[in-house]
Amino acid sequence: MTETITDAAADRALKAKHRTMWGLGDYPDVAARLIPELGPVLVTAAGIRPGERVLDVAAGTGNVAVPAALAGADVVASDLTPELFTAGRAFAERQGVAVRWEEADAEALPYADDSFDAVLSCVGVMFAPHHQQAADELVRVTRPGGRIGLISWTPEGFVGDLFRTMKPYVPPPPPGAQPPPLWGDETHVRALLGDRVTDVEVRKQTVTVTAFDSPDTFRSYWRETYGPTIVAYRNNADDPERTAALDTDIAAVAERHDRGSGTTVMDWEYLLLTARVV
Ligand SMILES: C[S@@+](CC[C@H](N)C(=O)[O-])C[C@H]1O[C@@H](n2cnc3c(N)ncnc32)[C@H](O)[C@@H]1O
Repeated sequence: MTETITDAAADRALKAKHRTMWGLGDYPDVAARLIPELGPVLVTAAGIRPGERVLDVAAGTGNVAVPAALAGADVVASDLTPELFTAGRAFAERQGVAVRWEEADAEALPYADDSFDAVLSCVGVMFAPHHQQAADELVRVTRPGGRIGLISWTPEGFVGDLFRTMKPYVPPPPPGAQPPPLWGDETHVRALLGDRVTDVEVRKQTVTVTAFDSPDTFRSYWRETYGPTIVAYRNNADDPERTAALDTDIAAVAERHDRGSGTTVMDWEYLLLTARVV
């Protein structure tokens, strides 16, 4: 009993840390400037139709929720970090659609079994630390015959590389917490969903990012805008040598993934998965 209470308290503390992290910087700018095309990609892949009940898990500012609503669906956008909903509401309003915004942990969704026709998550649920628990929740709240659609950064792609690069600069995750880019590994995600889904379709795609004109601009952007990178810098703020090393390492990520000549052009790889719940 004591152990359970302690575990629950530790989980709450971990989630509070994650919430703070995603509220840092300017994630709304990341979604709007760098990856806005991913929402529509997922909505199309999942075949969202008018009138369907759709849940966007770890929705952030509604990268998926808003295009799903534009497709005529009845959409709930849920996320651990309600601070992001202000930008999400403004986005929905600009697009002239209604979305319901609800604070929720992907590992304990506050919805009844079989509540949704489609449950989607774009580079979102992958950041919940306990993968099996989160996958179980996706399946549980999707009705039999409904669809799950996921976009996840791959371990070998740009974001996988970014997280690997930051790893030496952040404290190790608590026991049981798994690395986000594992959701971009087909074998891993198929095992998470298991035989509770059928008609699984998986493909790797890329989103091309041209927003940075040099590795330096790129590094400053991540340093100031993206929660996980801001945390890595904060952890080393009183150590100028390590901060300089992190600067070098982050700029090197851009260089490794740059296919441009003169300007920075990067193809960020992700795994797109759709499946039908049995
Ligand atoms: C990279 S952002 C993606 C947001 C959005 N889906 C998009 O495409 O822009 C990751 C999101 O996961 C959310 N998140 C992290 N851990 C979560 C958890 N345990 N439950 C729900 N959301 C979580 C963060 O608050 C953040 O909004």
